[in-house]
Amino acid sequence: MTYAGIYSQSKENPEKFWMGAAKGIDWIKAPTKALSDDRAPFYEWYADGVVNGCYNAVDRHVEAGNGDRTAIIYDSPITESQSKVSYAELQDKTAMLAGALAARGLVKGDRVIIYMPMIPEALVAMLACARLGLIHSVVFGGFAANELATRINDCTPKAILAASCGIEPSRVIEYKPLIDAAIELADHKPELTVVYQREQAVADLSMARDQDWNEFQAGVEPAACVPVNGSDPAYILYTSGTTGAPKGVVRPTAGHLVAMNWTMKNVYNVDPGDVFWAASDVGWVVGHSYICYAPLIHGNTTVMFEGKPIGTPDAGTFWRVIEEHNVKVLFTAPTAFRAIKRVDPKGEFFAKYDLSCLDSLFLAGERADPDTIEWAQKHLGVPVIDHWWQTETGYAIAANPMGIEQMPVKLGSPAMPMPGYDVQILSDEGHPLPAGELGAIVIKLPLPPGTLSTLWNADERYQSSYLDAFPGYYETGDAGMVDEDGYLYIMARTDDVINVAGHRLSTGQMEEILASHPDVAECAVIGVADALKGQLPMGFVCLNSGVDRPEEEIITECVGLVRSKIGAVAAFKLATVVDRLPKTRSGKVLRGIMAKIADGTDWKMPATIDDPAILDEIKTAVQKLGYAKS
Ligand code: COA
Ligand code: AMP
Repeated sequence: MTYAGIYSQSKENPEKFWMGAAKGIDWIKAPTKALSDDRAPFYEWYADGVVNGCYNAVDRHVEAGNGDRTAIIYDSPITESQSKVSYAELQDKTAMLAGALAARGLVKGDRVIIYMPMIPEALVAMLACARLGLIHSVVFGGFAANELATRINDCTPKAILAASCGIEPSRVIEYKPLIDAAIELADHKPELTVVYQREQAVADLSMARDQDWNEFQAGVEPAACVPVNGSDPAYILYTSGTTGAPKGVVRPTAGHLVAMNWTMKNVYNVDPGDVFWAASDVGWVVGHSYICYAPLIHGNTTVMFEGKPIGTPDAGTFWRVIEEHNVKVLFTAPTAFRAIKRVDPKGEFFAKYDLSCLDSLFLAGERADPDTIEWAQKHLGVPVIDHWWQTETGYAIAANPMGIEQMPVKLGSPAMPMPGYDVQILSDEGHPLPAGELGAIVIKLPLPPGTLSTLWNADERYQSSYLDAFPGYYETGDAGMVDEDGYLYIMARTDDVINVAGHRLSTGQMEEILASHPDVAECAVIGVADALKGQLPMGFVCLNSGVDRPEEEIITECVGLVRSKIGAVAAFKLATVVDRLPKTRSGKVLRGIMAKIADGTDWKMPATIDDPAILDEIKTAVQKLGYAKS
């Protein structure tokens, strides 16, 4: 059947469509219906089904006789090591870790924070939680102690599962001191910290709550898979919103399993046994969905790559991994390709490897610029598919579904809405806009299975963040348009979120941190265009009167403050002191205009501006930072 046929089936009879998709999952008790809307706008999928996520990702493949199949390929150029984990081994490992957690009294519904780098134990930790119905929350290794503390307070975990360190090309990051600092900062105190020791930095485990990963599991009874209700949360994943407090996106169990399984064949066109590689990190949604859950649920082999697209050791690393492990589909962020292209513009590394196993490349996480797509197409010789999604949805809202039908690629567009997503473009007043007109991208409720059910402990914030602006619709926070063929174009965020190297960050949060500096009276942070990372944050601070310290000193402190509070991943390095910020007469900071000035793009003087002369000062300031060059 064509894409159009499948999409219209999902729209005309969603119940039938999603009950059909549910057959791809092994249920303890099959659901009698797909959608429950009695608590709308809090929709539930497969609410009366009973299921286990780990069983579907691991045990069922072993029971089907595929225990010898490789589940995980760990390829770590950064430590110069590799290993493989079969499905049978993964079953043993998850059952043992789950057994140890159960022996310490953790039960279904308890939260567990996972703070681990790209090593197979991170997947074991996630799946061991799923085995017991524990709700995991993975925190990206690039976040600082303060961010970890915020998450500890919000989801109040009983345990933290961690590794002793993460490894960046320039340094080893010791995790244990970060965890201890975070627990010190947090009001909630987890009972248990279980640490997987890596030889690059062995952690001190002398605190009463500390446990060594191996000793913790020694002699325990392996745990069986626990029955979990369909709408119980599988995990919480924090993502940036407009304020300093991250949003705890709640992923419901059964819808997640069904959607993950469905996308593997229909979107990515892989069959069980094929090797699938999402070059991301377990700390992001791409890592949850396409390093861990989807490939394993579908019986694929997933690649865990601990390295960077360049410098570990060179710009041919990705092609080596594809050749060596027979990768059929690669999924990464455009920034990875921009990084490779910058080092190897002629694509000389491609020729050194046999890439004939590769069927397609999928890009997401940020806008895929046409240059990057064309460069990748030229050198890989396979379809390059842009697809659009968010932490909240957990999988593609729009894509070119390779397993259904490959539609013509239009550069700059992630193609068409996927089944279950009724995507519309609305004006600020909520009226549908015609093809070609830019507006807010919204999705008619209910969202399909596997998308967020709410925000952790914050039903009201869920409603005010996503549902209030356009009643009856989910507000994506993206602006864009649809063309006359129905192709979507994602142009910009409508909020304070910026996208740096595929990482979602909040400028509002950075402003809160800068404002906490004792010499800063007020500030603004904007996202400026960057040829490598897509966007970079740029800060403007106005100092309190009477401050007579050197500006450079204050800027260095501001940069250090953001790094220490959010982490290196914020990539906050551009900042400057200005006398005043440009504002409207009602006092709203004109961040959009400031970003346009920095990017050197066209802008119009807003009629409501308080004092137009300030814009010249802003231009001079950004020029000093190397931007707005005429
Ligand atoms: N743990 C600790 N620190 C981390 C980290 C982690 N897991 N990941 C990144 N960082 C640090 C980096 O070392 C860097 O620190 P620095 O300021 O001291 O140099 C900082 O955070 C910024 O990282 P990043 O923005 O990733 O820049 P980079 O220069 O290290 O790498 C790319 C640039 C393009 C190579 C890299 O971003 C990349 O590979 N991106 C691929 C896309 C991707 O994975 N996207 C995720 C969503 S799909
Ligand atoms: P995250 O929740 O970190 O996955 O970030 C989601 C946001 O990244 C989206 O709301 C978009 O702003 C942006 N994004 C993700 N994929 C794409 C894409 N294919 N094209 C344009 N923007 C994208």
